[in-house]
Amino acid sequence: MRAIGLLGNDHSMPADAVRKYVQINHMLELLKAPLIDLRGRHKHLAILDAGCGSSYLTFLLAWYLKHKLPGDFPGGFLIAGIDTNKALIEKSRSMASILGLESHMHFEVASTSDFKWDELLARRPVLADFKRPHMVVGLHACDTATDEAMGLGLAAGAEVLAASPCCQAELAGKWRELSQSPEGRTHPMAPAFQSPELRRTIAAEMTDMMRVLLLRASGYETTATEFVESRHSPKNRLILAFKRGRFSKDAAEAYVKLKDHLGGSSIRLEFLVSDEVRELTAGNR
Ligand SMILES: C[S@@+](CC[C@H](N)C(=O)[O-])C[C@H]1O[C@@H](n2cnc3c(N)ncnc32)[C@H](O)[C@@H]1O
Repeated sequence: MRAIGLLGNDHSMPADAVRKYVQINHMLELLKAPLIDLRGRHKHLAILDAGCGSSYLTFLLAWYLKHKLPGDFPGGFLIAGIDTNKALIEKSRSMASILGLESHMHFEVASTSDFKWDELLARRPVLADFKRPHMVVGLHACDTATDEAMGLGLAAGAEVLAASPCCQAELAGKWRELSQSPEGRTHPMAPAFQSPELRRTIAAEMTDMMRVLLLRASGYETTATEFVESRHSPKNRLILAFKRGRFSKDAAEAYVKLKDHLGGSSIRLEFLVSDEVRELTAGNR
């Protein structure tokens, strides 16, 4: 914790670090059971942290897997962190080597919008055993980066997706446009479309509801829970999804109904689900 900057040299923990520590610690608690479950089924484990930032969660996961998880992944584990911030990625690389975790970690300057696991393997043949990520995590990745993190997990067939959404501007932006149209002005949701405050907060909540339905439609058992008390972070919702079946027509239909009810605007994740699910949910906004 000193190396990654959560503890000071005198072992004190500043207030901001306490908040971050509580968040990642709770997140790790929730990921423990899925990690144990993955250990029973895979020789190698790969995790992708999308929008890893300062990589607190990334390092805590690596530390947990190396030192705490009972048993082992016989083929080893890999945690890849991607972020668009070059300085933070370079810092994470150097921390991985200070902590002796470099053989288990890979950091890359990349955007969630165009990162491809296969291309990573092509660039780094030494990682070839880690054929796909089994778990994708995204802690407070900005706006649609959360959708893209989930999309990366869906595309890879990851067994576990865990995302705590951050600022959500996409749907609110579409509602702002809608508020200018004759259709939007007479829509039952018009008061929300027109008020910046209602628009921002309601659109954020609805975005998460739409995400949950799209993940369920994609065959994931999905929950949205409060993972830390709001005094530790106002962004305290965790969307946790476990791959179970092929896809759910009922959930896809529920998504379409909800979307229509809200004025017809789509969210980014709708364009990242499989073609099968996409056909059932296709929208044009
Ligand atoms: C609020 S920080 C959270 C960082 C970290 N996950 C944590 O919880 O400490 C959001 C991070 O997402 C990164 N980010 C935003 N959009 C991104 C994108 N499209 N692709 C990759 N990283 C992105 C930012 O650079 C930033 O480091």
